[in-house]
Amino acid sequence: MEQTPEANDRAVEFDLLSAAFQLDPPATFAALREHCPVHHTERPAPHFSLSRQADVLTALRDDETWSSKFGPGLAFGEVGAGVLVASDPPGHTEERLAISRAFRPSVLEAMEPDMRVLVDDLVRGFADRGEGDLIRDLAMPLPLTVMCWLLGMPVADIEMFRRWVLPMAEAVALEGGRAANQEVMDAYRSYGTYFGPHIQGRTDAIAAGEEVPADLLTRLLTVERNGKRLTHQQVMGFCQFLLVAGSATTTLLIGNLVHRLLEHPDQLALVQADRSLIPAAVEESLRYDAPVHGLFRTNTCPVTLHGVEIPQDSKVYMMFGSVNRDPELWDEPDRFDVTRDLKQLRQQHAAFGVGIHYCLGAPLSRIEAALALEAVLDHLPRLRPNGAPSPVKAAVLKGFETLPIAWG
Ligand code: HEM
Repeated sequence: MEQTPEANDRAVEFDLLSAAFQLDPPATFAALREHCPVHHTERPAPHFSLSRQADVLTALRDDETWSSKFGPGLAFGEVGAGVLVASDPPGHTEERLAISRAFRPSVLEAMEPDMRVLVDDLVRGFADRGEGDLIRDLAMPLPLTVMCWLLGMPVADIEMFRRWVLPMAEAVALEGGRAANQEVMDAYRSYGTYFGPHIQGRTDAIAAGEEVPADLLTRLLTVERNGKRLTHQQVMGFCQFLLVAGSATTTLLIGNLVHRLLEHPDQLALVQADRSLIPAAVEESLRYDAPVHGLFRTNTCPVTLHGVEIPQDSKVYMMFGSVNRDPELWDEPDRFDVTRDLKQLRQQHAAFGVGIHYCLGAPLSRIEAALALEAVLDHLPRLRPNGAPSPVKAAVLKGFETLPIAWG
């Protein structure tokens, strides 16, 4: 269906920050796919949105036209300041080659026993209580603790990291980006005050030839690209990105997965009876409730799509969550079904992005979510909801800040 730019603007109400969208993103995705596949709005800042699977997937695979150099948020970031998720080839290719070594399957497999102990300790710590908040008790501390291991930070500080992570995630969809409001600025300032000396300390230790942990932070500080290392600012930026991208997202995944299983007792019973369905349940959750339902690109030349001209240097929202519910790609997309084919789910859902920026942490978050679900099934019998969950406020994210549950 071709559309005129005017019809495009009128056809569907879509505002990333509106309660209507936040409460039911799939309804808006469906309306956009059908009535205005190229949507333009001035709210909260001028941007276009692509919702049809064919358009989003084609765009994400064409990184020359759809650049990440201004960053994945709504605000235009400073070009060259970011690593990986805010860079284009050839820089991105080299960074990815270097950094991806820290995410090799062998590195992740080596971490699995420690993660298993951690999950077990967390769940045993609250299993006797009979009720709790799945996010506070398990879904938040698990990925944040793993992030502490990766970045060499004290686990005792995770409550503080959590307080920064959510405002930083909110800033992705705010016009002012990292200067959007006082809360966001405070989070960035606290992050800088804490991480600046932490990273400098490790840099100095490496320079002095001292023994340092063989973790991701050391890797970031020693990786060379054309004989040059990443700058202090770039490492600061990447660690900040990781705190949000690697922890908040996995927290949401674990919460969304348990929430949907509670909402669909037949599906919960299937997984309870056959634990080999856990990987498919994790993947179906990622499809059904993509924790990051979209991110931005900026087009390097004018593009006309479905009759709408997208001027060069526009911010364009790529709706991963809409790809995951597009009937062109999925049989009964709005049915939550843990018996879907695992391979097809992994190949087709866009929850981890598509193309050269495909999530490096995907295998890690899959392990964390599977371990968390296994522990919940093992230790929390007769699991049930225990009050209304509160949704997360960041507009590009989908999931919960609290998820009250009871068991036993
Ligand atoms: C359920 C959990 C997760 C979700 C839903 C998720 C989602 C995503 C998405 C959508 C992208 C693509 C960004 C883009 O296209 O602009 C991405 C990239 C990335 N993610 Fe994740 N992520 C998760 C977990 C993690 C974890 C645990 C880590 C690391 C510890 C991580 C590290 C990264 C990195 C480094 C990139 C950038 C890759 C690049 O630009 O080449 N993510 N993630």
